[in-house]
Amino acid sequence: MKGLVAFLCISVLTGCVKKTSIENDFIRENVEFAQAQIGQEIEYIENSGKVLNPVTLKKDGSVYYCSYSDWRSGFFPGSVWYLYELSGEETLLPVAIKYTEALEEAKKLFWHHDIGFIIEASFGNALRLTNNKRYEEVIVEAAQTLSTRFREQSGTIQSWNVDKGWQSERGWECPVIIDNMMNLELLFHATKLTGDSSFYKIAVSHADRTMQEQFRPDGSCYHVIDYDLTTGEVRNRHTAQGYAHESAWSRGQAWAIYGYTLCYRETGDRKYLDMAVKAFDFMKNHPDMPEDLIPYWDMDAPEIPNELRDVSAATCIASALYELSTMHIDNAATYKAYADKMMLSLASPAYRAKLGENGHFLLMHSVGSIPHNAEIDVPLNYADYYFMEALKRKNEQEQ
Ligand code: GLY
Repeated sequence: MKGLVAFLCISVLTGCVKKTSIENDFIRENVEFAQAQIGQEIEYIENSGKVLNPVTLKKDGSVYYCSYSDWRSGFFPGSVWYLYELSGEETLLPVAIKYTEALEEAKKLFWHHDIGFIIEASFGNALRLTNNKRYEEVIVEAAQTLSTRFREQSGTIQSWNVDKGWQSERGWECPVIIDNMMNLELLFHATKLTGDSSFYKIAVSHADRTMQEQFRPDGSCYHVIDYDLTTGEVRNRHTAQGYAHESAWSRGQAWAIYGYTLCYRETGDRKYLDMAVKAFDFMKNHPDMPEDLIPYWDMDAPEIPNELRDVSAATCIASALYELSTMHIDNAATYKAYADKMMLSLASPAYRAKLGENGHFLLMHSVGSIPHNAEIDVPLNYADYYFMEALKRKNEQEQ
């Protein structure tokens, strides 16, 4: 009987997306909360007559809205896509389309590497849920743009330019940050859409060199590796957003776990799975990992336990763990159990906002960059995005 009910739920078509069956009360309650909280933000945006893109709260408590070129511009549209998928609420479809299409110019962003975050969260989800072929062109053009940042000598994509801003003051030549692993998803996607293996080859080259240079023997990673553009040799191993060059910045660790998990998904190469597990094991076995599994912003921050947590690192790790738990891996169920425990913490009043508060973001207590004195103990749209993705992945496994 239960199977028949599930079949009937899964089979109901609403618009372009199949209505998702949710049998777990925890997931249902969180989706309902997200529908109410994000719904209030959508209402505000729609009433403004503009296409606003919420990122975080400013120091005065008002919402910071970004332009298409900000590395975080894909996450709010992406959260609306996940909400549409999980709730089956048809009125969300035109909104998700509008917020996504407002970002199309991002496909030409050649001056930073984050085009992968932007395009995959927005157009990637849009294509998956609508199959609109026009979105394929955006994804492929974005991958071509990202490929212009590939540097043959180092075999990596250059993350940041060094001709302006605070990056120009660090003495770097070709900085590559661990975050860049996330942008590889766009390249793999473009190869699948076109059959052109050049994108795939760049992604694999980047993943391999990063694995070689960016990790310490214990599985923790450096935030920034600076390469010599002429020789391809490493010039510096630094941090930008962590506590110290030799510390373990938690969101960097999250990008590594998620990034190598996706590399294994896309290539089937076991070494990437092993890297993802090693990076996660570092966090799991860390003596200072709190009981509720929400990491400190840096696992070497000097005042632990009186340091801030970073919810964005937690949601990204939780989402990656749900995927890891579906892979050919020893003790796969333990990865899901760990993610489930993280999600319980995240959805508790300690981290999840009250309806109508927190600038209509779902989660509180993330950290953007303490060294830059920016976005400290605030909501962040990428924390919410990976929370929604984790809910979706958890739900798929519990059908
Ligand atoms: N990708 C930038 C950050 O993680 O803050």
